[in-house]
Amino acid sequence: MAAMPAANGKARVFSGIQPSGFLHIGNFLGAIRNWVRDQDRYDNIFCIVDLHALTLPIEPGALREQRLDLAATLIAAGIDPQRSALFLQSDVSAHSELAWILECFTPMGWLERMTAFKEKAGRQSDERVGAGLFNYPALMAADILLYDTNFVPVGEDQRQHLELTRDLAQRLNKRYGEIFVLPEPLIKQAGARIMGLDDPEKKMSKSVAAGAPGHAIGLMDPPDAVRRKFARAQTDTEPAVRFPAGAGVLNLLEIYRTVRELDPEAVRAEFEGRQYSALKQAVAEAVIEVLAPLQARYRTVRQDDAALLRTLKESAQRIEPTARATLARVQRAVGLR
Ligand code: TRP
Repeated sequence: MAAMPAANGKARVFSGIQPSGFLHIGNFLGAIRNWVRDQDRYDNIFCIVDLHALTLPIEPGALREQRLDLAATLIAAGIDPQRSALFLQSDVSAHSELAWILECFTPMGWLERMTAFKEKAGRQSDERVGAGLFNYPALMAADILLYDTNFVPVGEDQRQHLELTRDLAQRLNKRYGEIFVLPEPLIKQAGARIMGLDDPEKKMSKSVAAGAPGHAIGLMDPPDAVRRKFARAQTDTEPAVRFPAGAGVLNLLEIYRTVRELDPEAVRAEFEGRQYSALKQAVAEAVIEVLAPLQARYRTVRQDDAALLRTLKESAQRIEPTARATLARVQRAVGLR
């Protein structure tokens, strides 16, 4: 039996999201907000990849909490679990089952070449790095391939993992017939690349934010924290906005533009010649305005963890037959059925 396209004729998009705690406006403007908008355009699957979260040391309580934080944030941002699948990876055991089979077909050399692995493992001795970190890409390939995914939204950092997924799918298709749909990268819309407030040469990042409180605006930051961080954002020594502007000013303009959904020209015209302090205040107020409703909805959703877990489980149950069908196809192909 060959792989099937999505039943409703829409292209299927699979997004795997790490429940890594802190989310910032870069995540929201660069990714989450687009997912919310594209909900009707694609057949969307949002998977909270809690099994991947185990590949690096994490406290059980933190993992439990961060899965719920992420689910509630996505719902608060507008992901509708009735329209899109939104579930925990560990609620669909086919992910683990297919990952094992794929691991058996993944050459060690392919995994050794993964730059993400080299970066994450490089800092520690082999005695401390779990094999899961090495096999991470095979689990990610399982996530994607289980749902006959057409597109995967990927940033630069995940491109190599998607390439490995495609290579693996082609390898098995060649050997066993067309068992997998070949996924393609979904290139992000331009213009939502948000840089660090303290260092506008670097992309706003969760890991940097952990050590530098002024680096990123958290989605749950209260208004006074937002104002304070923007007030301290790095610009340059000019007193007012002039073009060509430096990276810090361009970043502030970019945040303002994306939050308010304006043309770059309109934003340039609005701020040209104005003091940096005026720009910083305007950006802060614009950000506070988009975050307020999100934070309010988040608090409502987080009031009932049992209901939230039930929502995730029901979504997993609705999507599971697709995963099971793919797994069965693979099991038949390799001789496990
Ligand atoms: N590796 C991805 C990241 O760190 C998360 C992920 C896991 C993923 N499985 C996926 C992304 C499947 C896309 C598709 O961001």
